[in-house]
Amino acid sequence: MPKLMSIEEADPNVGKRVQVRGWIHRKREGGAIMFIVIRDRTGTIQASVKKAMLKQKEWDAAVAAAIESSILVSGTVKKEPRAPTGYELEADSVKIVGSSEPFPITEYQSAELLLDNRHLWLRSQRMRDIMKARAYIFRYLRKFLDSRGFYEITPPLLTKAGGETGADLFEVDYFGQKAYLTESSQFYSEVMAFSLEKVYSFAPSYRAEKSRTIKHLAEYWHLEPEMTYYDNDMNMKLQERLVSNTAIMLAKNNADLLKNFNVDPQTLLKIKPPFKRITYEKALEVLNEKGADKKWGDDLGVEDERLLTEDEEKPVFVTLWPKEIKPFYMPVNPKDERTVLCADLQAPKGQGEIIGGSERIWQMDELKERIAEVEKQKQIKIALENYQWWLDLRRYGSVPHAGFGLGAERVIKWLLNLDHIRDAIPFPRTINRAYP
Ligand code: 4AD
Ligand code: MG
Repeated sequence: MPKLMSIEEADPNVGKRVQVRGWIHRKREGGAIMFIVIRDRTGTIQASVKKAMLKQKEWDAAVAAAIESSILVSGTVKKEPRAPTGYELEADSVKIVGSSEPFPITEYQSAELLLDNRHLWLRSQRMRDIMKARAYIFRYLRKFLDSRGFYEITPPLLTKAGGETGADLFEVDYFGQKAYLTESSQFYSEVMAFSLEKVYSFAPSYRAEKSRTIKHLAEYWHLEPEMTYYDNDMNMKLQERLVSNTAIMLAKNNADLLKNFNVDPQTLLKIKPPFKRITYEKALEVLNEKGADKKWGDDLGVEDERLLTEDEEKPVFVTLWPKEIKPFYMPVNPKDERTVLCADLQAPKGQGEIIGGSERIWQMDELKERIAEVEKQKQIKIALENYQWWLDLRRYGSVPHAGFGLGAERVIKWLLNLDHIRDAIPFPRTINRAYP
């Protein structure tokens, strides 16, 4: 049995007899010779398959094999300038492992058909590139925090604590009781921070988003660090280092992948701290100068985000938002009672919000006062009975703390310059799709 070779290792194996294990990517036949392009996790290589070199049964099986059949090919690696990658495998044995029915995806397909066949489309060059980049981005995010003393913690995804951010919730029948799919693991990260000081969860969050946009998923991966004794400024500094490190690691280690997305690694290498910080108030001024009509208390929409960062090369923090449009756990700014101590990070070139973060109210009296104020102002009742455990943090040795939530698919979409967030995740969950 010849040695198993990854396709990317063709060069050092020139002249050697090896086995390649993969799938049939493409096939071209011409009488007594055929060319089979094989794909594995590392790339593609063309095998030249001559009838005279194979047993009759192997040749017949190879002729019959359709695109995407799984295949084992043994042969000798050659340099071949006419082959697509510059190398060729001169086959002397071909085994079809699993034959394929006619593949439902051909060259020009509608977006809907590709989504219906997502489980098969994930084998395409483009999706493989995205999924590799996604895995690297996840790795760099974790690596950065791990190397700075953070512990990764695992929150529950089923919870009774709902309605923290104001997003719509998925309700679950939990053995006859009402529970929800979590929309954020922040409160659990806070609990764990009072135990391990610097923690992060990296888990799915669920939002029953009724809006159909290119940046909303119903299920997304949410990185939520929480740190004791951090204030809003330290929080932002950590975020900019995390985001910068991720962009730079991708540029340095994965230039080959970036090329397939037309992303110039140089633009990512420029994403260095510090990032620009503007207050919400200033952001409104900038927007209104550009012709928008924003008044105090308005949230920023897709078009506002685009106007705000269209000329930026690095992400921008928008700080100190009006308290009415932010959650009840954010402390009121002592220097301006209209605002809370928070910041959102906006990706450049109108790519939108990638992080939301803030200080947390850490003293019980202040929290109760703020909750009462929010309930009065919004005419709602916050279901505190589901938050007793979280309130308890303020009862047993509380400390100042802060944290943030980074939307992984938003970051992937931005860094790879994807058109739609659904391509940043293998199995997108959107308003009209939970299949496959
Ligand atoms: O701004 P959000 O709602 O903040 C929170 O949930 C906080 N509790 C986080 C924290 O402080 N621990 O969400 C945080 C981030 C957003 O900035 C965005 O990147 C992402 O989550 N996000 C979404 N990503 C994809 N699809 C959606 N529907 C998203 N909603 C939010
Ligand atoms: Mg937000």
